[in-house]
Amino acid sequence: MEYFLSGKNKPSGKPHKFFERILDNDLQDLSLFLQDQYSKIENLSIKGITEVSKSDYWKESGSVSTIKWRDYNVFQFYHPGVYKLYKELSDVIKEACSYYDIDFDKQQYMVQGWFNINYAEVGKLDWHDHGGPYAPYFHGFYCVKAEPSITYYKVFEKETENHNIDNRMIVSEMGHPHAMGSWDWEGPRITIAYDIMPLNSIIEAKASPQHWIPLLWKKKKIISFLKEL
Ligand SMILES: [Fe+2]
Repeated sequence: MEYFLSGKNKPSGKPHKFFERILDNDLQDLSLFLQDQYSKIENLSIKGITEVSKSDYWKESGSVSTIKWRDYNVFQFYHPGVYKLYKELSDVIKEACSYYDIDFDKQQYMVQGWFNINYAEVGKLDWHDHGGPYAPYFHGFYCVKAEPSITYYKVFEKETENHNIDNRMIVSEMGHPHAMGSWDWEGPRITIAYDIMPLNSIIEAKASPQHWIPLLWKKKKIISFLKEL
């Protein structure tokens, strides 16, 4: 979830903004699917998943699908809800790029995604960040079952609360540490998380191959579209 880059990117000067979309996924179905994938990761029955080792980070999460984030990409899981989330992600990142005056196409964005399944009594992710910092680097998460709970953010050193809403995806520029707040239900807390970085940064960070996937956006040909009307 973290890649160290040589250049220190500066903040844009624009106020921080969360970009969000509410989806209409069947969360019960998606939740069962992810719990099944979780068991498969735990049992090493998905090709490419390795055993938890000393070199793994995020053990404090208590979530093996978080700890093994490098070994898979959640957007390669076969589920309509995951497909829908991925499709919507391009749209959200396009919006974020417009806000920060970034040319989406020039970035040649790539995405890595994973999922987190946590239990109140087992562990959670404390303050952390995901590289970057700042736009054009983005990170976000989608709540499958995380309501009611708060994710705390330190936005330019000022602590803010993000009240989680199930079926909502959010995106923020990187560079703003965040932490899971506590929750009080017994069952799993489930989220899908994603990092979005320009292709040249992935190359510079020497990221492992067959992990990141392209985030595409097809420019609409407005003139030919108008001619067809
Ligand atoms: Fe995070």
